[in-house]
Amino acid sequence: MELPYEEQLKLKSDQLRAHFQDAQFPYLGDIEVHSAGSAGLRDRLDFSWVGGKLGLYKKQSHELVDIETCLQLSPALQQALSEIRKVSWPANKGSLRVRVGPQGQKGLWLDFSNIDIKNLLEEKTILKKLIPQFTIEIGQRRKILFWTGQEFKLRDPQPQAWFQTWMGEQVVNLYCQVASFTQPSIQANKIICDIISEWLEGIDQPRVIEFGSGIGNLTLPVLAKAKHVTACEIDQLSLDGLQMTLQHLPTSLCELKERISIHRGDFQKKLMQDFSQFDLVLANPPRSGLMNFLNPLKELLPHQRPRYFIYMSCFPESLVADSLKLRESGYSIRQLHIVDQFPQSAHYEVLSLFEREQL
Ligand SMILES: C[S@@+](CC[C@H](N)C(=O)[O-])C[C@H]1O[C@@H](n2cnc3c(N)ncnc32)[C@H](O)[C@@H]1O
Repeated sequence: MELPYEEQLKLKSDQLRAHFQDAQFPYLGDIEVHSAGSAGLRDRLDFSWVGGKLGLYKKQSHELVDIETCLQLSPALQQALSEIRKVSWPANKGSLRVRVGPQGQKGLWLDFSNIDIKNLLEEKTILKKLIPQFTIEIGQRRKILFWTGQEFKLRDPQPQAWFQTWMGEQVVNLYCQVASFTQPSIQANKIICDIISEWLEGIDQPRVIEFGSGIGNLTLPVLAKAKHVTACEIDQLSLDGLQMTLQHLPTSLCELKERISIHRGDFQKKLMQDFSQFDLVLANPPRSGLMNFLNPLKELLPHQRPRYFIYMSCFPESLVADSLKLRESGYSIRQLHIVDQFPQSAHYEVLSLFEREQL
């Protein structure tokens, strides 16, 4: 935050190069850096509530930093945070997600203990003030709060259009919960989708397997240009959202539904699919990286392995660790990009395109 923005971008690019160099992974090409703006990009925040403070934990500490304003938040999200900060939650600790959707709709996910939730529902006045402004989801089961006229009740989760992706230039609403994983910023996500679409232009109608499709944010841009996509994901609620998104695709894109198959499971443990049936692997794993997902590559002859691999990560350490495994299977990096989804912080998103050496 103390550095001028251009210097922040340079630092991120130098750090990424250093990660690869330290791991002795040879990459001498360019790193292209993209930015959607020097601040104000975030459409979702995840804060903790502890002992009357609302914010984030200090690095490597149990101390919570109370955060009133944040340079990362979009103006609408900052406004929503200011509303939420007026509340003194009747709980010692919990976590909150605040989200602003593409139409400006606001969402709040409250994750407190069962007893704290019970007290909150009985207390009534706090939720009565918030419910006209926010769609409120409660607890790990993400139940939706509603007012019967006499009391608050919870009903089953219902995906709504909380995020957006792009299939070429066509914007597509992504259905999910307030509590679902989405990229942090709709604006920065457009840059990510554009880069991936451009890479797909250079690959002839690939058969794609995707690790960690989530609600389909990268699945759909790729589906627009692929012969078929096999989407693999662990989280059922995200897949419920993806199914609803497919049902609501714009009429001009409807037939693409036939070209996707969806599989639920823990793909870090074991992959049941056969990599030799695919031309492209698309991966956007959690911080822990791909783990055992890559193991079956080694069992194939080099020419049977998918020719291309797109790997997106907000955690360069695991990207580099997985890149070393990819190199052992004959892949090298063709393009490396940074999308600065998190300006004014040390984090950044990396997009990499690998290609298998042709023997
Ligand atoms: C960084 S998110 C990416 C989601 C999506 N690409 C997007 O842009 O919104 C990682 C995704 O991997 C999924 N995931 C985590 N562990 C997994 C596993 N063991 N097997 C399959 N998917 C997993 C998460 O549920 C999440 O949807």
